[in-house]
Amino acid sequence: MTEVVRVDPARPNLKDISRAADCLRRGGLVAFPTETVYGLGAHALDRAAVQRLFEAKGRPANDPLIVHISAFDQLAALVAALPEQAAPLAARFWPGPLTLVMRRAPSVPLEVTAGRDTVAVRVPAHPVAHALLLAASVPVAAPSANLFSRPSPTRAAHVLDDLDGRIDMLVDGGPTQVGVESTVLDLTVDPPAVLRPGAVSVEMLRTVVPAVRLPPSPPGGTRPTYVGDGEPMASPGLLSKHYAPRAPMTIYQGDPAAVRQALRAAAGEAIAAGQRVGVLATAEDAPMLNGVPVVIAELGSEDDVEAIAAGLYAALRQLDAAQVDTILMRDVSREEGLWRAVRDRIHRAATRVVSVS
Ligand code: TXA
Ligand code: MG
Repeated sequence: MTEVVRVDPARPNLKDISRAADCLRRGGLVAFPTETVYGLGAHALDRAAVQRLFEAKGRPANDPLIVHISAFDQLAALVAALPEQAAPLAARFWPGPLTLVMRRAPSVPLEVTAGRDTVAVRVPAHPVAHALLLAASVPVAAPSANLFSRPSPTRAAHVLDDLDGRIDMLVDGGPTQVGVESTVLDLTVDPPAVLRPGAVSVEMLRTVVPAVRLPPSPPGGTRPTYVGDGEPMASPGLLSKHYAPRAPMTIYQGDPAAVRQALRAAAGEAIAAGQRVGVLATAEDAPMLNGVPVVIAELGSEDDVEAIAAGLYAALRQLDAAQVDTILMRDVSREEGLWRAVRDRIHRAATRVVSVS
């Protein structure tokens, strides 16, 4: 049985927090909200607890975990040496959605780092995560609290959908604010490289470390590399199933008006073929589907990327729950700020990209 404890996200009850912290210290598995997504925590220095965490998620043991701490001063104990950029980055972005990859101290179990010589660390900003880490007073390894290959949970209900009965406790602090996972920045390479875009954007990072490098964008963004009409995507990186809904998802790229027409036509064809069709639609896209019997998961206005990020995974789960056979979406071509993270997750969720001319 998973015990669910509801707390006030802004001012959690300390009795509840200290019970969750005790559970963690004794090797239990506790899901809790961070400002990005819900994490599934385990005592990071307890090998057996970390092994149970991998089992509960069904996560492959070769995917390393992020270690969460309550403050920068706990970092030195986890790393072999502090890279020179760590302090200025932490001063600017911690607590917050930035994860730093550094050389591992011997005290960090290889179970946490998946056998690597490096460790990823962050200080979350959510008051519940912060209170829990303070009370536990141990570093807490926490991947997103979803079953492997499902979208990350941004609501307590998502955690229960995936992990009820597989973990000891869930601290329910309501919906998370950011909605996409933290930015992961590798400080073991020179210049530092973004491994996963997040809410701490590359523009923000470059105000502290101007040379920060980016991974290649998905096709159709600021550096377009089109794939042929109807062809499956070539890049294996973009086929990563980490953020995926159950149904196959197709992204349509090109001029917005032409794409909306193509999307409407594709929905009509799929319906005629007997399929249940889901559409991830912005507020601007939705009117184009008037009269077409599709399940629409609305993402909000394109003028509000924060709202789109916050609702993205819930929308994917909503389409899963509606048991659609296929999901269609219009691509966004913007990549500034938080858009880069949103596009990254959308493209990882997709099985196919179609360019419309
Ligand atoms: O926002 C977040 O980061 C959330 C919350 C719970 O903090 N956590 C999260 O964890 O997204 P997870 O396990 O779903 O993703 C961790 C990411 C993975 O892409 C993993 O490969 C990368 O961080 N990572 C962890 N340790 C690493 C390391 N030593 N070197 C490179 N990448 C690492
Ligand atoms: Mg994850």
